[in-house]
Order: sequence, then C-alpha cells, then structure tokens
Amino acid sequence: MATLNRRWIYARPLEGPLSVSNFERRDAPVPQLRQGQALVRVRLVSIDPANRLYFALQAYRPQLAPGDVMAGFGIGEVVDSTDPRFRVGDLWHGDFGWQDYAVINSYDRHEYWHRCSEGHTEQDLLGVLGITGMTAWFGVEEVLRAQAGETAVVAGATGACGSIIAQLLKLKGCRVVGIGGGPEKCAWLTDELGLDAAVDYLAPDMAQALRTACPSGVQVYSDAVGGDVSRATLPLMRRGARWYHFGNLSAYADARPGVPAERHDSFMSEELRAHCHAEALKPRFLLVFDHYCHRLEAEARFAELLRDRRLIAPSTELDGFDRLPQALAGGGAGKIGKLNVRISEGQGAQA
Ligand SMILES: NC(=O)c1ccc[n+]([C@@H]2O[C@H](COP(=O)([O-])OP(=O)(O)OC[C@H]3O[C@@H](n4cnc5c(N)ncnc54)[C@H](OP(=O)(O)O)[C@@H]3O)[C@@H](O)[C@H]2O)c1
Repeated sequence: MATLNRRWIYARPLEGPLSVSNFERRDAPVPQLRQGQALVRVRLVSIDPANRLYFALQAYRPQLAPGDVMAGFGIGEVVDSTDPRFRVGDLWHGDFGWQDYAVINSYDRHEYWHRCSEGHTEQDLLGVLGITGMTAWFGVEEVLRAQAGETAVVAGATGACGSIIAQLLKLKGCRVVGIGGGPEKCAWLTDELGLDAAVDYLAPDMAQALRTACPSGVQVYSDAVGGDVSRATLPLMRRGARWYHFGNLSAYADARPGVPAERHDSFMSEELRAHCHAEALKPRFLLVFDHYCHRLEAEARFAELLRDRRLIAPSTELDGFDRLPQALAGGGAGKIGKLNVRISEGQGAQA
C-alpha cells in the first residue's frame, strides 16, 4: 500500500472569488488505524456547488477553517479495516475530503457514510444514487405532488439534481420546461433529455421566453438557484402551485466567511412578495439527509428506471487529483449533469 496521502488543504481564507490559490497541496503519511476504524482509498470525488458554502457557514457539515483538508463527498474502497462492519473491498460513499485516504469509523457521526449497493457504476453511485439523485427523488415524490398535464419549470435542469428532476417530472406526465445556461445546453435539454421546452437563463429576454414557454402558467417549480430565474417564474404561479426550493445557487459565489448567508428570498421585490402572499405561494425546503431513511427505496426505483432506460444519469468526469481545485473554482463550466473528479482507478463497478 502507498505510504503517502495526497491532500488538498483549504489554505488561504476566502476573501474574493474562489480560486485555485485558496488551496495548497500538503501531503501527509497515510493514517494509521485504531480499533473500530477503516481506511478508505478515495476513487471519485464529487464537485458540488455546496462545496463553496463550506468555507462560509455550517452547511450540513462543520464550516471549514484554513488548514483543514478540503471537504467533499466521494466514492472510495475500504482497503484496511479493524472493524467487521467495514469489509475490505467494499465501496463506501461519504464526505471523505480531497485526499487519497480517509478514515471512517463505527463510533462517530456517520450518517453521511453508507456502504454502496453492488452492481452500479461509481458515477451513478455518486450521482443519481447519491445525494443529487436523492434530492431529486424526494423533491418530486414528497414535495411537488405533480400531476399529468401540469406545467413544471425546472431551474438548473442541466445540472446534477435538475436533470434528474426534469426526467422524473416527465415520467409523471408533466409538460416540463427546463432552464439552462446557453443555447447548446438548452438544445441538450430538448434534444437529449426530451423536455418540452428550454429557456436560457443567460439570455436577456429570459423572463419573456419563460412566459412564452408556459402559456398556461406554472403549477410546479423546482428551484435550485433563486435569483433571476425565481424572479421570472414566481409571477407565473397561482394558488395551489407547488414550489420546491432546495438551493440558492445564484448566491453561492458571494458566500464569504463571517458574512451572513444571503436569504433565499432576497431576490424578491415588494410586488413579488405581495403576489406570493396573495396566491399563498410558499417554498417547501428539503434537506436531502432528512429523508435518508428512505434512501434504499429510492435507490431501488432509480435502478429500475435506469435498467429499463426510462432515465439517463448524465455525468462529466475529469481525471486527476491535481484538477480538484480548478474543477471547483471553475464552477463546472461546460459540464452537463453530475461533475466528478477521478483521483484513483478502481474496477468501475462493484459488481
Ligand atoms: N437541499 C439539499 O439537500 C440539496 C442537496 C443537493 C443539492 N442542493 C442544491 O441544489 C442546487 C443544484 O445542485 P447541483 O448539484 O444540481 O448543481 P450543478 O450540477 O452544478 O448544477 C447547477 C445548475 O444550475 C445552473 N446555474 C448555475 N448558476 C446559475 C445561475 N446563476 N442562475 C441560474 N441557473 C444557474 C446550471 O446551469 P448551466 O450549467 O446550464 O449554466 C446548472 O443547471 C445547489 O444549490 C445545491 O446546493 C441541495
């Protein structure tokens, strides 16, 4: 086994836009195990918008401080263990950080660690069967209560959560309008994902384009980004419409340590607030981990949909440990679906 643990450290505090200079390579020896622990060799690291929040606040994990190993979810293989709960050779999913080797244990907080089911690709384990897919599943099944024929707007439809949400809503018989960034990504939404219409949030006439794409208004809104997209969508919603809010991505680039997080409704004018009040439009927020007790049921349904080719799980994989900082700082420019960085090779599937 290797003796060196490559690590990316959050080295310099975030004071302006995130850049590679906020990180520093500081390798260390591979950790030694104590009783009840296991050593995980990380293979695939998930790049998520929420990684940016870790510097600024406690976002379902403790806030990072300069000097900490950069946090991040991933898929890794147990390569050594002192506890029978962790079998050597099994794949696990968890917040292993940007490093080759992470220690997990059987006595500490471990709700975000789970042993991966067998027979799936690592990309699917980290995406559609991981946090982003579960966020989509619980949102559609437990919040949106979508009916066939309803018009659904999916913000961030080219992303990891949104691409799955949009497909699940199509399977429910909705007319789905996806929001993406730029003409190519919008073309992908209609041509590859099969959505009924796509609207480019980067275009100056986005609000008008959305009105045109939703002639009967909007009954279902999946909101991952807030900001301009929400400002354009909410006026098209009336009493009884459902609003699933699970992220405020358009504000994440401004997140800084010591600066209070932007409120999710900070984009609202007085007029829009009055509209939401009059139409009783309230966002329902969901934190995926609150629903993790149902994770295996959702996973089984996703596995069926994937097997029957009724759903695709788009992902983009970058290769190389040294690409981690740029992958996050670059915001996943040009990627479609789930963004991951491979830092070590495995078999590709656990089967
Ligand atoms: N509450 C929870 O439990 C939970 C769990 C997972 C994720 N989330 C949240 O869900 C959101 C999406 O996560 P994800 O993993 O799907 O991210 P992702 O894969 O990076 O996708 C982001 C999507 O948002 C779009 N986007 C980026 N900036 C935008 C802006 N300023 N205005 C409009 N659209 C914008 C992107 O469009 P283009 O790429 O086409 O430009 C892309 O479609 C994030 O806010 C994340 O924190 C919440």
